[in-house]
Amino acid sequence: MADKAILEVGGQKYEFPIITGTENEQAIDIKALRGLTGGLTTIDPGYKNTGSCQSAITFLNGEEGILRYRGYAIEDLADKADFLEVAYLLIFGELPNESQLEKFHNDIKAESHVDEDVKKILDGFPKSAHPMGVLSSLTSALIAFNPSSVNVDSEEDMYKAIVKVMGKFPVLVAWALRKRTGQPLDYGDNNLGYVENILKMMFKKANADYDLDPVVVNALDKLLILHADHEQNCSTSTVRIVGSSHAGLFASLSAGINALWGPLHGGANQAVLEMLEAIKEDGGDTKKYMAKAKDKSDPFRLMGFGHRVYKNFDPRAKIIKKAADEVLGALGVEDPILDIAKGLEQEALNDPYFVDRKLYPNVDFYSGIIYRAMGIPVEMFTVMFALGRLPGWIAQWKEMRENKEPIGRPRQVYTGENHRAFKERAER
Ligand code: ACO
Repeated sequence: MADKAILEVGGQKYEFPIITGTENEQAIDIKALRGLTGGLTTIDPGYKNTGSCQSAITFLNGEEGILRYRGYAIEDLADKADFLEVAYLLIFGELPNESQLEKFHNDIKAESHVDEDVKKILDGFPKSAHPMGVLSSLTSALIAFNPSSVNVDSEEDMYKAIVKVMGKFPVLVAWALRKRTGQPLDYGDNNLGYVENILKMMFKKANADYDLDPVVVNALDKLLILHADHEQNCSTSTVRIVGSSHAGLFASLSAGINALWGPLHGGANQAVLEMLEAIKEDGGDTKKYMAKAKDKSDPFRLMGFGHRVYKNFDPRAKIIKKAADEVLGALGVEDPILDIAKGLEQEALNDPYFVDRKLYPNVDFYSGIIYRAMGIPVEMFTVMFALGRLPGWIAQWKEMRENKEPIGRPRQVYTGENHRAFKERAER
C-alpha cells in the first residue's frame, strides 16, 4: 500500500502522506497543501472525493453494499437489537449490557418532559405547516428552555444533553403529527418501551385505548435502526459543520433536520409516495414514467432510485424490502400503489439505463410504503427518518467535539468580476 502521494505543480514536487483507515480505505492527507504550495487549493463540488473527518462510528462500502455501525453489521443489528440499543451503540461505542440499557432508558424517561410553553409555539403554526419545518423550529426552541451550554469536556454534561434530546425529540415528533391530525398533545407513557411509546404518543386517540401491534412495533424498530446513521451524508455533515462553530447540540440538530428535508436526501421517502400516487392518478402507466426518468430534457427522476455511495445495492433496502412484505402481509394491506412500486422496480432492474448507471432502489423506496401501511401521513415520512437518524447525528456531533475538530470552512475558486471602480447610482 502506498504511504505517500506526490503532487507535481509547475515542475515542483510536493509530498503528502497517505492515511489508512481500519478497513484499509486510503486518503491523501492534504492538510498541508495550501501552506506548502503557497495557496493552491482543491475543488470538489458535492465533496464526491473529499473526506471531511476521520470517524470511528459507521463503516460503509458502497461498492460491496456493506454498512456497519461501530463494527456490527446492519443485518445483525436489524435482526437482533432494538433501536435504543443501537442508539447507545452509536453514541457510546459499545452495545449496552442489561443494566446500562436500563439506566439509559430510565434517564431518557426522566428527561422526556417538554415544557408546556412549547405547546404555545406549536400553536402558532398553521395546521398545514410541513411537520419537518415544525420539528426543526421546535428543536431550535428547546434551546430557550434548556439554555445551559454543554461542557463538552465533561462526560456527565455530555450524557445529560444526550438523554435530554433522546427524551424530548420523540415528543416533538408526536406533537408535529398530532397538530396535523388535530389530536390533543400528551407526553406518552413511561411504562412502555422507547419505540412502543413513540407509537402510542403518535396514534393514541384522546377518547380510546391504543393497542400496540407487535408487527408495527417491530417494523418501526427496524426502520429506525436502518436509518440511525450513514456516515458523512448531507444532514450529518450539516450537524458536524454547524457544531464545529461550537453551536450547541439542539442548534446543530435543528440544522440537520433542515438538511434532511430536501427531496434528494431524507425527503425522498415522501417524494417516492407522491410519485407513486401521481403515476396511479395518471392511469398507472409505469413505462411512461420510466421513459420520463431516462429523458435528459425532462427533470423527472425516479424517486427512491440511485444513491450517492451505494453503486451496487443498498443493504438497507434488502432488509426493508423483506420487512415491507411482512408488514403488508400481516396487516392485510392491499394497496394499488404497491403494484405500481413493484412494476417500477422490476422495469428499472432490467433497464440498461438504470443497470449501466448502477441505479437501484434505495431504502426510501420501501420505507414510505411501510409508513403508509402503518397509517403515517406522507408529510410525516421525513420526520420519521429524522427520528431514526437522531442517534447518528448525536454520535457524530459528540465525536466531532471530542476530537476537537476545527471549524468547518471550505475554500472556493472565485469566478466573479475582478476589481472595478465603484459606479455612482446615477451612472448605473
Ligand atoms: N432517476 C433517473 N436518473 C437518475 C436517477 C434517478 N433517480 N439518479 C441518478 N440518475 C442518473 C443521472 O441523471 C446521471 O445520468 P448521466 O450520467 O447520464 O448524467 C447518473 O444517473 C448519475 O447521477 P448523479 O445525480 O450524478 O448521481 P449522484 O450520486 O450525484 O446522486 C442521488 C445520487 C441524488 C441520490 C440521485 O440518484 C437521485 O436524485 N435519486 C433520486 C432521489 C432519491 O431517491 N434520493 C434518496 C437518496 S437515499 C437517502 O437520502 C437516504
